[in-house]
Amino acid sequence: MAQLWGGRFQGATDRSAYEFNASIRFDQRLYKEDIEGSIAHAAMLGRQGILSASERDSIIEGLKQLKSDIESGAVSITDEYEDIHSFVESVLTERIGEAGKKLHTGRSRNDQVALDMKLYTRNQLKITDQALKELLQTILSIMEEHTETYMPGFTHLQKAQPVTLAHHLGAYFEMFYRDRDRLKDIEKRMNTCPLGAGALAGTTYDLDRDYTAELLLFDGGPTRNSMDSVSDRDYLIEFLSALSLIMMHLSRFSEEVIIWNSNEYRFVEIDDRYATGSSIMPQKKNPDIAELVRGKTGRVYGALVSLLTTMKGIPLAYDKDMQEDKELSFDAMDTARNCIREFCGMLQTMKFRKDLMEESAKKGFTNATDAADYLVKKGVPFRDAHSIVGRLVLKGIEEGKALDDLTLEEFRKESGAFEEDIYEAISLKTCVEKRLTFGAPGPERMREVIDVYRKML
Ligand code: ARG
Repeated sequence: MAQLWGGRFQGATDRSAYEFNASIRFDQRLYKEDIEGSIAHAAMLGRQGILSASERDSIIEGLKQLKSDIESGAVSITDEYEDIHSFVESVLTERIGEAGKKLHTGRSRNDQVALDMKLYTRNQLKITDQALKELLQTILSIMEEHTETYMPGFTHLQKAQPVTLAHHLGAYFEMFYRDRDRLKDIEKRMNTCPLGAGALAGTTYDLDRDYTAELLLFDGGPTRNSMDSVSDRDYLIEFLSALSLIMMHLSRFSEEVIIWNSNEYRFVEIDDRYATGSSIMPQKKNPDIAELVRGKTGRVYGALVSLLTTMKGIPLAYDKDMQEDKELSFDAMDTARNCIREFCGMLQTMKFRKDLMEESAKKGFTNATDAADYLVKKGVPFRDAHSIVGRLVLKGIEEGKALDDLTLEEFRKESGAFEEDIYEAISLKTCVEKRLTFGAPGPERMREVIDVYRKML
């Protein structure tokens, strides 16, 4: 039980209370950030004359050595230490002696952990952003291939109007693009350095907080209020919220892949590399990856709600409740990253059944609106046109026919405005290609939008 604070205690901590309190089991993943922050702190203390040049150099050298030893496996982080901060300081001191005991001058674990979490989150933002970029590139390449792949568009999961696969996937491009934008936004707001805030009230040492902020690449300089500095986890909540949105988007996409991959739809075929079988039913090929992504969404939401709840009752400044910011956040970051990666792999290898999508778009009266619009163009008021086509649809349902299968005579029985050109007007090709409003699936328009997307990436 190695602790940094034994002086005022007469008795040892209860064994199980010690374990309950300790965070090394999960905060050891912050070792890089902890060492990086400590190096900046030592450099600043040296520059300010609070440490001698040789103390500073031996601390920095020792920290760098420790980092490479952890990375090579020469040193392992063990749970005999309370947390990663205690581990780093204690091992450093064992190795370099007296100078190591001076590293914590003008610093508290409160501003230290605030810094570590910020650095870690900042890096995770970049990793998530990169993963999203790859996903967007994948979506865009599929879109480029499928500007003329017709499929039914749905509302209420009922066939509504024909669209193209490019158009459908474009909706996901928009979602994940907004997600990246949100990450950028978070990064801007979290760009200030809490180091030097001390336990809560700063310090009487002459610290140069601008210098440490600069060394740690915080463009916004040091945080402006020391109490807020040690108790702020807003950026982490924002990140969890952004991850929740990413997961929500991935989950909707997964849901569609699952539906499209079902025996009833067969719009897509998931590659063997991203599907699994059944232990009992030999015929099965299950979309487990998509289902897991959908399922793991709840877990990421859980992390968000958990941290919001943890933070809501904490009096200023630091309270130990805040140690609970780590486990679920780390889990959410890992989960979201893995989900984006696996989903992307699944998408890259998935086959789209152009023929079956098109066949499906031809059924289900997806051209009914276009039939009504045809009448409107011939001078029939839209409400009347709607009702005329509604009756034709009913006839089609009763006789098992598509609108395209009705004879001109049958059309004209409902309205004399129908002429021979109705067939052209309601053909699948016309229905898609004439949809040329900005943002609509018309292939000509779609290609313009795809060019814009290319530039956006
Ligand atoms: N393990 C702690 C955490 O994650 C580090 C800060 C401890 N500070 C303290 N005053 N006990 O929040």
